[in-house]
Amino acid sequence: MIRPAQERLFGVVGRPVSHSLSPVMMNRAFKVTGLPCRYLAMEITDPAEDLEILARVGFEGLSVTVPYKETVMELVSSMDEDAEKIGAINTLKRVEGKWQGRNTDWLGVVKALEISKKSLKGKKALVIGAGGASRAVCYALKKMGIKTTLSNRTFEKAERLSKIFDCDVVGIDKLSTFDSNRWDIIINTTTVGMKEDLSIVPKNLLAPSVIAMDIVYTPLWTRFLREAKEAGCEIISGIEMLLYQGVFQFEWWFGIPAPVEEMRKALLERIKDGS
Ligand code: ATR
Repeated sequence: MIRPAQERLFGVVGRPVSHSLSPVMMNRAFKVTGLPCRYLAMEITDPAEDLEILARVGFEGLSVTVPYKETVMELVSSMDEDAEKIGAINTLKRVEGKWQGRNTDWLGVVKALEISKKSLKGKKALVIGAGGASRAVCYALKKMGIKTTLSNRTFEKAERLSKIFDCDVVGIDKLSTFDSNRWDIIINTTTVGMKEDLSIVPKNLLAPSVIAMDIVYTPLWTRFLREAKEAGCEIISGIEMLLYQGVFQFEWWFGIPAPVEEMRKALLERIKDGS
């Protein structure tokens, strides 16, 4: 038998994870709350086998990231209704010798949007992108009672998702024909803006009445968010969803409030470092 003798073990599994910001956020949370825990980023290739190995060496909780959020659904003893509906698990907890699963990504979206000073009641949202991240965003908006329109480069993928989460669909090439009154909240869930300084959101949709949220966080100031700021929009950066999905993971693992501000600070410091 192997058991960690000084620190309790947690981590993130995915591939690749070498640039994950979760360790810096979680290890700061452990430090300020005085928990004797360590959080590691681990690349895995065979979730079924690797999760068992991690359990055997004593890991108590794991974050799950791309490309395994769907695969681990088959490897848990139980999961919450949200994970089931979204079709993805991003958090595992070892309970009585088994892995339990939850999805905290959508909660991260809800909390991130609640940062807004505006009332979100009766608002209309545009979500661009129809990948994994979009599913959690659409689910969160549905839970909040926000009427959502989906748009995606591959129209059929948006159509498929819209049926699951009760959204409208609009062609991505049509976005430039609407004005800024059409949507109150615009969320980019695509990877556009990460590698190249491009925005997928036409400027005609941006105005001071609009909340602009990006889930890309490197760079923090994507072209979309820069243009939104210039147009007077309220900005919610990609850090916020990352932060709050982690806050809910921490709170599930430990049952105590997470040190949110310290965790945000840790993320911002690392992003400013550029490392
Ligand atoms: P994730 O799980 O992080 O959401 P994903 O499942 O690979 O990642 O989804 C990426 C999203 O970004 C998709 O909506 C993708 O559009 P397609 O469905 O048409 O592939 C979108 N995307 C990626 N690169 C894009 C680009 N250059 N222009 C427009 N959309 C892009």
